[in-house]
Amino acid sequence: MLSPSEKRDKIIRATDLDALSCRYSTNNKSYFQPADNYINKIIASYQNHLQFCKGYSQLSAGRTLRSVFNEQKLPLINRGTYLRTKVIDLVVEEFIKEFKQVQIISLGGGSDTRCFRVFEKYQENIKYIEFDFPESVKIKKLAIENDEELKKLIGDTAEAKEIGTKEEFVQLESELHTAKYHLIGFDLRELDQLNEDYIDKDTPTLILSECVLCYLTPKENEDIMSYWKNKLDKRCYLIYEPMSLNDAFGETMTQNLSNRGIDLHTFHKYPNLTTRHSFFRDTIGLNNVKLTDTSDIAGYSGSLSNKEWISTTELNRINRLELIDELEEIRLLFKHYCLCYGELHNFHFNGINKYKWMIE
Ligand SMILES: C[S@@+](CC[C@H](N)C(=O)[O-])C[C@H]1O[C@@H](n2cnc3c(N)ncnc32)[C@H](O)[C@@H]1O
Repeated sequence: MLSPSEKRDKIIRATDLDALSCRYSTNNKSYFQPADNYINKIIASYQNHLQFCKGYSQLSAGRTLRSVFNEQKLPLINRGTYLRTKVIDLVVEEFIKEFKQVQIISLGGGSDTRCFRVFEKYQENIKYIEFDFPESVKIKKLAIENDEELKKLIGDTAEAKEIGTKEEFVQLESELHTAKYHLIGFDLRELDQLNEDYIDKDTPTLILSECVLCYLTPKENEDIMSYWKNKLDKRCYLIYEPMSLNDAFGETMTQNLSNRGIDLHTFHKYPNLTTRHSFFRDTIGLNNVKLTDTSDIAGYSGSLSNKEWISTTELNRINRLELIDELEEIRLLFKHYCLCYGELHNFHFNGINKYKWMIE
């Protein structure tokens, strides 16, 4: 039997399956170019190992995976997943190009494949660190250790691991370390107990949270953002997540998630770009704070600029992949997702100015 807090964490961990299934669907519909061939490798690890995670049996794991991956995603979900992945990729790539040596810390990296795509393109001068709950990390670790291509990308030399029972899964260490990649099983609410040996204090660092901090309380958000204060001298943050806008649509989103047992704690506390701006600037003490929403990124707000995130040619390409008649609906949904950036006062990332922001 799971305790109430274990049950809650299991639901939060499962949001990674949602993110993965959205990426899977988006990839299958040819939004990503080039196609992301790493997604299927992580799915295979989930298929082999979810049954060993706390709270699952072989039957319930199979049922969960079938219901998540067999479900057809709506075109607007595919488009949103593409946009979310693309804009974060753009910032990450600018960051890598600007600084000679970089560190990327992904909070709640889950089954995100960005680290593999980054290492495919840039083999040197990057350290990529990912945190997630231990069980999610084990699934990614097993995907890597059982795949020669993934192992080579991150510079891993460990032997392939066969896990066939719950006990073996429990015993598996929830960490994987190479010279350039660190995958760490860790509850972000316990950051004060983190072993910091793997973190470079002086290296320019981009801290990413892609739909992660929204599952934590405002106090936990503040603690996690502030934790790096004396640990990283040159850091900036990039956060992507939903916001309520305090409107009827936001209310429906809250209701739908609440029916699944998910509480988005910052949804109402920071309902819009203005309140998020003040959270970054006044509460966390960041500089050069910039924010926008996905609707503006995708060109649905109507205001044109020479700093567009995505070229008209590329937007036309993705808009042709699946026709969406309800433009108002897509605009409304995308208005509820924000991208927020902020950096330290003594650190500046020029590349962030290349793109259009609604508030800066
Ligand atoms: C919606 S998924 C997003 C995963 C990934 N960032 C992406 O965009 O594909 C949220 C992730 O945050 C992780 N997460 C949430 N709360 C966490 C915590 N307290 N400690 C570690 N990971 C956490 C979940 O396990 C899950 O993998």
